[in-house]
Amino acid sequence: LNRESLRILITDPVDEYMVRTLKERGLKLSYQPDITREELLKVVEGYDILVVRSRTKVDKQVIEKGKNLKIIARAGIGVDNIDTDEAERRKIRVVYAPGASTDSAAELTIGLMISAARNMFTSMSLAKAGIYKKTQGVELSGKTIGIIGFGRIGYKVGVITKAMGMNVIAYDVVDVSKRVEGIGKAVTLDELVSESDVISIHVTVGKDAKPILTAREFEMMKRGVIIVNTSRAVAVDGKALLKYIKEGKITYATDVFWNEPPKEEWEVELLRHERVTVTTHIGAQTKEAQYRVAVITTENLLKAIQEL
Ligand code: MLT
Repeated sequence: LNRESLRILITDPVDEYMVRTLKERGLKLSYQPDITREELLKVVEGYDILVVRSRTKVDKQVIEKGKNLKIIARAGIGVDNIDTDEAERRKIRVVYAPGASTDSAAELTIGLMISAARNMFTSMSLAKAGIYKKTQGVELSGKTIGIIGFGRIGYKVGVITKAMGMNVIAYDVVDVSKRVEGIGKAVTLDELVSESDVISIHVTVGKDAKPILTAREFEMMKRGVIIVNTSRAVAVDGKALLKYIKEGKITYATDVFWNEPPKEEWEVELLRHERVTVTTHIGAQTKEAQYRVAVITTENLLKAIQEL
């Protein structure tokens, strides 16, 4: 195998470090961060390596068309936009950048939580529209935050919210009782949903994941609960959620949508609701996180190329 003849296609915006470093290694690279799905399906056969973020869906069809694919690199954390089963069947390596955006994602979570608690977006929109008045909020100190998924990001959110005077409880599919020591306590999902004033989701989900929060859990929650989601929308049953938002029981602050951009009618209704605070999947979108993502993904990609 002539490694220098490997052709790389990058289909989403990545930090220029990655483009520069791969070129310096003599690799042939095409940078097409705005490529459409139709175009990708046409050209993917001509590449050995595909580099994507979350916009590009590397599903079965893309993998089938990519007859020469040997490696798929995800410049980020979640590989839910990649059909990893199909990649495995075709012996295509999948590399990514675990840990690269932990701090950025945790910081945005705190921002969304405070924005929702204090109605900051409403206050700002009113002010900008010429209506300068006070919006009412709730204080977070002394309240309970339930963290679902106590990995790197969940842990960091736990540390920060504890410092804010919040009572931290955590649930994970693995036993996190040791990990949460000194920050808060591990609980069951049912305990978490019924005891929390704020619920923050930090789970890894597969492409066919079932929602963790459904009508059953929404029923058990306290009235006025704030749910923050900076992981993946599919962790929540969106249609059921909308019903509880409309009833006034739940406030939702989210960085992620079921479709990005949202396109289903119920999704757009949820997006526009006054009790919903939204950012546009910017959890990892900081200079620092994107640089780290580029460095780690490049390193893992170069290692995978050596192992071909
Ligand atoms: C990730 O999984 O890394 C995030 O979705 C961030 C992104 O790629 O923008």
